[in-house]
Amino acid sequence: MSKTDFRIAPSILSADFARLGEEVQQVIAADADWIHFDVMDNHYVPNLTFGPMICQALKPYAAVPMDVHLMVEPVDAMIEAFAKAGANIITFHPEASRHIDRSLSLIRDLGCKAGLVLNPATSISVLEHVLDRLDVVLLMSVNPGFGGQQFIAQTLNKICQTRILLDTHQQHSGQRILLEVDGGVKADNIADIARAGADTFVAGSAIFGHSDYAAQIAAMRSALSAVSVHSEQ
Ligand code: DX5
Ligand code: ZN
Repeated sequence: MSKTDFRIAPSILSADFARLGEEVQQVIAADADWIHFDVMDNHYVPNLTFGPMICQALKPYAAVPMDVHLMVEPVDAMIEAFAKAGANIITFHPEASRHIDRSLSLIRDLGCKAGLVLNPATSISVLEHVLDRLDVVLLMSVNPGFGGQQFIAQTLNKICQTRILLDTHQQHSGQRILLEVDGGVKADNIADIARAGADTFVAGSAIFGHSDYAAQIAAMRSALSAVSVHSEQ
């Protein structure tokens, strides 16, 4: 993986909801790689955010991939709705689907990249039999539901273990799967998270909690530029 092969995905969960289109444009102008879209249903997680209509409304403002993180249960109907609404990447939590393999296939059949999201206490063993169906693994470094929480340090070990699993899979199959981390990511811990093996970083409050988005993203990229990566990628 080259040093520049890191993606920063601002989560608009921490943006100003009264000006979402403008916020999306501004954070893309500030050098965001993806827009991370946190969908919460007050059922799978104890919070409620936005649905496919908002995603569709924001699509014309999003000149970069829309990374839709589904925190909903069940998932299949929302996969279809978000694919139609312009999602590029759709991830869901394995606990929220009765048929994980089927839901992953559905995402790809609809033309999107597919991923599983693992909560802090969810074992990476759930990935084992579906690796070939995955384009991304998203590791939660906080419990899902809210922005602005503290990074759970134990996640670093889990990132290392997942990196080994994904590198081994890539050696055997040639298939590259991205490793994304979500929750409590900031300029002062992003390098450690990258050294553990992550290549894609969600950050909500660390970007939208400040007035100068470009400065926050630049600080993250600067921290990442000091990381040398010795993986297969
Ligand atoms: C939490 C969401 C995160 C959240 C991250 O359930 O999945 O994407 O917005 O927010 P920060 O970066 O503030 O921890
Ligand atoms: Zn998220």
